[in-house]
Amino acid sequence: MDTNIEIKNLSIEYRMRNGTVHAVRDADFSVDKKETLSIVGESGCGKSTTGHAILKLLPSNARATGSIIYNGKNILTMSNNEIRQIRGKHISIVFQDPMTSLDPIMRVKDHFFELIKAHDSKVNEQEMIEIASCALEASGVSAKRLNNYPFEFSGGMRQRVMIALAIALQPSVIVADEPTTSLDVVVQEQIMEVLKNLKRTKDMSIILITHDLGIVAEVADKVAVMYAGEIVEYADIYNLYKNPLHPYTQLLLKSVPNIKIGDMELHNIPGSLPDLKNIPQGCRFRDRCPMVKDICKKETPPIIDKDGRKVRCWLYG
Ligand SMILES: Nc1ncnc2c1ncn2[C@@H]1O[C@H](COP(=O)(O)OP(=O)(O)O)[C@@H](O)[C@H]1O
Ligand code: SF4
Ligand SMILES: [Mg+2]
Repeated sequence: MDTNIEIKNLSIEYRMRNGTVHAVRDADFSVDKKETLSIVGESGCGKSTTGHAILKLLPSNARATGSIIYNGKNILTMSNNEIRQIRGKHISIVFQDPMTSLDPIMRVKDHFFELIKAHDSKVNEQEMIEIASCALEASGVSAKRLNNYPFEFSGGMRQRVMIALAIALQPSVIVADEPTTSLDVVVQEQIMEVLKNLKRTKDMSIILITHDLGIVAEVADKVAVMYAGEIVEYADIYNLYKNPLHPYTQLLLKSVPNIKIGDMELHNIPGSLPDLKNIPQGCRFRDRCPMVKDICKKETPPIIDKDGRKVRCWLYG
């Protein structure tokens, strides 16, 4: 398969007055055309930081090194003008909270018009309405609602509008950052259905960011599990579920309620993330790991190739 986007040695830190937050360290992954990659991990693991870097949307106190190669070019070193031409047209993003991403005083159609005109000033109003209608219908929203304002939609419908905006110009990559987190369970299912449909019918890659391993299985082809800024396991979905290698992935999977076997209890992982301003020596998961060994407290585990998968853990070193 053709690679659509390739991330290599990506490290990102946030400079603060009281120290430096090491939000992402040495991340490597790639997404092929028509493939869905999910980035999974607890809150604060660096998932959004990684996703935002792909669109060069990091705040001014962030420093990113490494490379994010799209169409032969490194996004991290692109000028503002270059990335503006890519954002929304070739790579787009769906954020967690659709209300803060939509302008309350703009009709839905004006959001589409603004986006389309930013990339093609010659397109006329009728063409823009056609593009917007197509994208809305593909996301499960009637094109009749083009004249509505965001407040006239439910949370789930607003998120569908956001997805429609993200796919309107037929991008080759969509980053969906916790697209279902602010929604109730029934609506979450509906939004996942929309994503599954897009995956089936459109020719694009999806990077699905979530803290919920439960929603990943239905849509992802492969998974990057993040813990405290590092990718600790990287595998195809089948192998990850069947035989999780990293102790953190194993615990994450246990924390997913299993409806089929009647186990609805959420097993939370005891302990909390290390302070990313002051990372302990050795493995970042050492204080929560049931399998911790002496070496884990002294040396950082490298990423290891294990049966075609990647895992960052001394159990396999
Ligand atoms: N603008 C920022 N300035 C400083 N620290 C930040 C900023 N944004 C995120 N962080 C920190 O970076 C780490 C990773 O955050 P984030 O990427 O949002 O994680 P996730 O999306 O997995 O919840 C966290 O410790 C968070 O507090
Ligand atoms: S390196 Fe050690 S502490 Fe870290 S996950 Fe593996 S066994 Fe656990
Ligand atoms: Mg996030």
